[in-house]
Order: sequence, then structure tokens, then C-alpha cells
Amino acid sequence: MDISEDLIGRLRNAKHVLVFTGAGVSAESGIPTFRDALTGLWERFDAEELATPKAFLNDPALVWGWYEWRRMKVLRARPNPAHLAIAALETRVPRLTVVTQNVDDLHERAGSRDVLHLHGRLDSPFCFACRRPAVYPNEIPEEPEGGRHVEPPRCSCGGLIRPGVVWFGEMLPEIEWNAAIDAARSCDAFLCIGTSSVVQPAASLTMMAIQRGAITIQVNPNPTALDDQVTINLSGQAGKILPELVETAWGDS
Ligand code: APR
Repeated sequence: MDISEDLIGRLRNAKHVLVFTGAGVSAESGIPTFRDALTGLWERFDAEELATPKAFLNDPALVWGWYEWRRMKVLRARPNPAHLAIAALETRVPRLTVVTQNVDDLHERAGSRDVLHLHGRLDSPFCFACRRPAVYPNEIPEEPEGGRHVEPPRCSCGGLIRPGVVWFGEMLPEIEWNAAIDAARSCDAFLCIGTSSVVQPAASLTMMAIQRGAITIQVNPNPTALDDQVTINLSGQAGKILPELVETAWGDS
């Protein structure tokens, strides 16, 4: 692994590590990323045109159908070595904060606790009208018969149940966002894994860590706008690089 002994030493002595993840950390679990063209039934759609309150009100069954498709992919997926390496880190560093933009529960299923979800979670639907938490009527999403549309369930208040995710134009959950900012401003090592760093304000966390003087490591097979900002760029797949990085820096801790 192309990291100097000095930087390995800084990682090993880090008191607080923040791991910030995007869709790329779940890519090797078979969950398509956002900037990949949506596949199959959804290939002619853009995430940005489906993940908005307006899109949901305009065609609730289409947007609910898309999230049921994503929920099905998550239920069929398993945590990959990147998720497992991040979970292993919890017992090897004095303090670890995991902040994710992902709405899947693969970090939790890999064993990570206290994951901060900045963009909500697929497993926490709620009523669009009264915002009461709801439950999915069916454990396993129904396979839309050949189409894309699945009618969303209704709340007892009559409102439509919506996915528990943060849509474009909506505010991030305050508690999680404030905790993520505190962590970015206090960590001494920041691992930025599998994100294109284009969606604000989540993407600003990396700059907060850089301004704090933390050692910042980006893991991504493709270039991003942060390439010249971070301390180290590890180009490649998270499922391969992360286990190696955790072993190299924290293997015997
Ligand atoms: N390992 C690491 N990184 C990967 C891998 C992999 N195996 N495969 C793809 N990537 C990288 C891609 O190169 C890309 O930079 O993961 C990144 C995924 O970027 P996006 O699809 O933009 O996903 P993300 O950054 O999480 O998007 C942020 O945008 O659509 C909204 O709310 C949505 O949370 C999402 C936010």
C-alpha cells in the first residue's frame, strides 16, 4: 500500500477517526451508485428526478416503486469487505465516528454501531402528511408486475407513506448533521470512502477535516474534486483497499 511510514504512524496514533461513506462503499455489495446510470427498469431515470418531494406528489407510485426496487436490492445484498473493515476499526481506535450518505443498513449489518445517516434510511418510512413513523406492509418488497409503479400504503390519517430518506431540497436531520460537523472538526484522521463529493452540505465535511489539520484519505477508483485537497488518494475499490489500510495502519492494535 503506497503510504509512507510517517503517515501510517499518524493514523496509528489517531485518537478520533471519522469514516465518511457514500454509495461507492456499497457498490461491491451490488447496490448501484447514483452516478452510475440507473439500471434495468430505471435506466431512463435520473436519481435527482425521482428523489424529490415534488416527484413523489406528482407520481407517488413511481417514486415508491423506485424505493421498493432499491429496498429489494438492499435486502438481497450483503455487507462487503469494506463495511466489515470499517466495523473492525471500531475496536482498534480510541474513538470512531461513521457518517454515511447511504440509506442502506449495510454498515449496521457489518457490525458498525452509532452510524450517523445524513440522508435518512430506507428502513424508516413515515407519513408524508403527519410525519408519524410507519412500517412497510410487507417485509419483502413486492416485485412490481413488469412495471415500475407500486402504490404507497396510506397512514391512518389518510396521508401517503413515503420513504424515510432525505430528498433533494430537504433539510438534513439536525441531530445527525450537527454530530457529523462536531466529529469532522475534532477528528485527527478522516477516511472519505466511495463518494463523488458533489452533494452538499454532506460533501463539506471533508473540507472541515482538512481545515482542522486532520490526515485525510480518499478511497475511490475514479477522480473527484477532492483529489488535490486530501492528504492521500488511494485509487481503487473500497472492498480491496480498506481491509488493507486497516491492517496496515491498525492491524496489531
Ligand atoms: N469503491 C469505492 N468507491 C467507488 C466504488 C468502489 N467499489 N464504486 C464506485 N465508487 C465511487 C464512484 O467513483 C463515485 O465517486 O463511489 C462514488 C459514488 O458517487 P455517487 O454515485 O455520486 O454517490 P454519493 O457520492 O454517495 O452521492 C451522494 O447524492 O444522489 C444523492 O442522496 C444521494 O446520498 C447520495 C448523494
